[in-house]
Amino acid sequence: MPELPESNSAKTKSVDKLQQALGYTEPIFNASMAGAAGGALTAAVSAAGGFGMLGIGGGTTKDWIDTEAGIAASSGRPWGAGLMAWVLDKNLKPLEQVLAHGPSFVCISFGEPGPAAALVHESGALVGMQVGNAAELSRALEDDIDVVICRGNEGGGHGRNEVSTLPLLQLALSKTEKPVVAAGGLATAAGVAAVMGAGASAAWIGTRFAATTESLSHPGIKEAIGGAGIDDTVYTRAFDIAQRIDWPVEFGGRALRNDFSDSWAQDLEALGDAVRSDDVLTNSINQARARADLSVAPVYAGQSAGLSSAGLSAAEVIADLAGFRAVLQQAARRWGSA
Ligand SMILES: Cc1cc2nc3c(=O)[nH]c(=O)nc-3n(C[C@H](O)[C@H](O)[C@H](O)COP(=O)(O)O)c2cc1C
Repeated sequence: MPELPESNSAKTKSVDKLQQALGYTEPIFNASMAGAAGGALTAAVSAAGGFGMLGIGGGTTKDWIDTEAGIAASSGRPWGAGLMAWVLDKNLKPLEQVLAHGPSFVCISFGEPGPAAALVHESGALVGMQVGNAAELSRALEDDIDVVICRGNEGGGHGRNEVSTLPLLQLALSKTEKPVVAAGGLATAAGVAAVMGAGASAAWIGTRFAATTESLSHPGIKEAIGGAGIDDTVYTRAFDIAQRIDWPVEFGGRALRNDFSDSWAQDLEALGDAVRSDDVLTNSINQARARADLSVAPVYAGQSAGLSSAGLSAAEVIADLAGFRAVLQQAARRWGSA
């Protein structure tokens, strides 16, 4: 099971301590995305030298976890899983179930990781936490978190809409010797180079991997991500309110704008009233999800949708992102000595 070396080798030596502990060759994690990052994506990312993360959502069954974690582990390479703290507050079972499959790393985000983090440590795995503002960063610097994932508000899916990736990353790197991973808005070799050059131990990437061939997302969702521009997203709680999902109010979601968000994102109070008064809106969004009507159903994606295309495999995406080294070398040649 992984153990972080004592010294902060990320800053002082040629080997990064998180890379040493988790054994990836490419500093690329696919984000643990419920509904997209199943076993196939997790295994494909780890097999390609990155670090694959299984996304475990709120309503996940034991059967699903057993099947998908089994596939995730089938690459024979280290892998991890991500779960939501506010879901684990009510029930630690999904965490216990995934730990039985031997992940090396577990990310617990969106709420207080406390008892869940202790359980992960008992299993011998490392614990990570996504942070979206300075207060959450301070929380993640406490002893029970090993890896800080700075998740900026340009990122896709749920999170805070407070601070962007680079300010959060710079703050974290100035405050801690723990490994720091950057998330939100990263989709190209240049983006990965930016955060690795700043001192991150890895890049955590959601939207671009959601559109890969191994992602569990509906083909229409992958096409929609591939066809979107960088300014086609909206940050809103409208989809959760309509579906009556109890995400804590501080965590909305970034999704592609559609007819539904255009109608309701600016008037959440009226939406809440409508959802409380009858089931019409809830039924219509649930039906839209079932038939992949993306004018109503949410397509969770970040601003990097504008830098992502559908139809590539996870290995092709990792090979492309591995070009971050050439970007850094070019910058060093241009700016390396005065
Ligand atoms: C489709 C989708 C689903 C997501 N689901 C989860 C999730 O279940 N748990 C989680 O911790 N983060 C989830 N996220 C957020 C990611 O972990 C990550 O913060 C984000 O994707 C990073 O930004 P990017 O999309 O610009 O790469 C999701 C993101 C997307 C795009």
